Amino acid sequence: MTESNMATEMQRIVLARHIIGVPTPADFQLETLPIPALDDGQLLIANRFISCDPGTRSRLSPGASYAPPLKAGAMVDGFAVGEVLDSRHPRFAAGDLVMGTGWATHMVSGGRGYLSKIPDLGVPLSLWNGILGVPGMTAWFGLKRVANMQPGERVLVTSAAGPVGATAGQLAKLWGAAKVVGIAGGTEKCRWLVDECGFDDALDYKAADFDARFAEASADGWDVLFDNVGNASVDRALPVMRMKGRIVISGQVADYNLTPQDAPGIHHTREFIGKRLRMEGLVVFDDLPQFPAAQAELAALILAGSVKYREEIFDGLASLPAAFCGLFTGQSFGRRLIRL
Ligand SMILES: NC(=O)c1ccc[n+]([C@@H]2O[C@H](COP(=O)([O-])OP(=O)(O)OC[C@H]3O[C@@H](n4cnc5c(N)ncnc54)[C@H](OP(=O)(O)O)[C@@H]3O)[C@@H](O)[C@H]2O)c1
Repeated sequence: MTESNMATEMQRIVLARHIIGVPTPADFQLETLPIPALDDGQLLIANRFISCDPGTRSRLSPGASYAPPLKAGAMVDGFAVGEVLDSRHPRFAAGDLVMGTGWATHMVSGGRGYLSKIPDLGVPLSLWNGILGVPGMTAWFGLKRVANMQPGERVLVTSAAGPVGATAGQLAKLWGAAKVVGIAGGTEKCRWLVDECGFDDALDYKAADFDARFAEASADGWDVLFDNVGNASVDRALPVMRMKGRIVISGQVADYNLTPQDAPGIHHTREFIGKRLRMEGLVVFDDLPQFPAAQAELAALILAGSVKYREEIFDGLASLPAAFCGLFTGQSFGRRLIRL
């Protein structure tokens, strides 16, 4: 009997209540429900790896979001990779591997949006919800399109040991940056960035000597700041940006748990004038049509050992809320994935 014949029920995680402050597992609820029958044009996916993404947090409170907030009781629509179990959609067939969404064991999809088939590039499936998925593409297009990084430039990356930051720093080195420095929490993360990922240096922002080390590393300034952390992080770098520097606003992990009113202010905006700085945010899905070419190039770099990544795998949907909450306490070290 196939999995599609056997499965009649699915599980999903819904937002139990809107979140104030740092998320806790009690903010989420596991539900069991029947798998609906497929209509024409629909397909049934069994998710295999669901990810924990800090940006999901921005949709879990009303009013603190750049995307429409999720309603309490609604399924959390994080990213996933899975296998098509059954299809009444002309472009998908049972057995296809796909990139999709949903904090759920199964998803019924109409085949639109982010859903796409995964090509066979000889890499593990989990990577398609990691370095070859949203975080890797954020690093790629943030650096290439938004920052327009040039060989010889000096690049500073924050939350550098995360999936986005570590990929951005490694790509910067491969694309000819003169110096790449990461900021991360703790000696283990900093050591990994230098020893494994080839960053020129990594600064532990939790260490007592951080301010001195940041000043020393910034003596010649930065052409690109790839920021994953938020307002305080941007404000710290503004005075040490170089002429015509670019600041990529990738994410705000330090600020997602705050309302915009409570987030730290950015005070050094005067730097934009004299240094002709540019600051620009990105939503990686703007680059969706260019994903396949970037994914093929990045997969080749991974297979050649030129780009490294880390994963933290948890088993079972019930482990997802706690794994997600650990993103905001510094517990995570690499792409957090839930294996089903
Ligand atoms: N714009 C887009 O289209 C797009 C797409 C995907 C992701 N993103 C953004 O990219 C950023 C990075 O994503 P990711 O998946 O690689 O996650 P990540 O950076 O690994 O996020 C988790 C890490 O953030 C750090 N962190 C947590 N709280 C912090 C705080 N208060 N101050 C400083 N650091 C803190 C911790 O590392 P430390 O131990 O080093 O502190 C933690 O392990 C996120 O902000 C995400 O929203 C943007």
